[in-house]
Amino acid sequence: MKIALGNDHAAVEMKFEIQKYLEELGHEVVNFGTDTPERVDYPVIGEQVALCVAKGEADRGVLICGTGVGISLAANKVPGIRAAVCSDTTTAHLVREHNEANIIAFGARIVGAELAKDIVKSFLDAEVCGGRHAERVEMLRGLERKYMKEA
Ligand code: RB5
Repeated sequence: MKIALGNDHAAVEMKFEIQKYLEELGHEVVNFGTDTPERVDYPVIGEQVALCVAKGEADRGVLICGTGVGISLAANKVPGIRAAVCSDTTTAHLVREHNEANIIAFGARIVGAELAKDIVKSFLDAEVCGGRHAERVEMLRGLERKYMKEA
């Protein structure tokens, strides 16, 4: 798969660990950074990764900040994006199966590297369930059409 990967300054080391892990699994990684400890604003990175996924230029996205929350909130402002913050592997596969999440997010200050790798793998290995879950995802798209018109 082609994976768009992004992080802020709170998650540089974690990002490199995840990038290496994804490449070892055979995925192609598009790294949006940041690669240095200088402060960056997580909405900028969240938007870049989200646009890449929403345009179909990457199959999935992985976003990491201190908590995973700020960067996922930014990504979720982009229509077509369902970014889910996960701190465990069960949630990580269920957000793909039931919610058709296309971006996984987590916090470098919340989870350790080994758990983070398992979270990412659970998410990438999971398959969309469809059925009644797909109807609810369609309702999410309806909310986008209702409230997320161009400002
Ligand atoms: C940066 O200090 C921190 O606020 C950010 O990484 C993230 O945790 C925000 O949600």
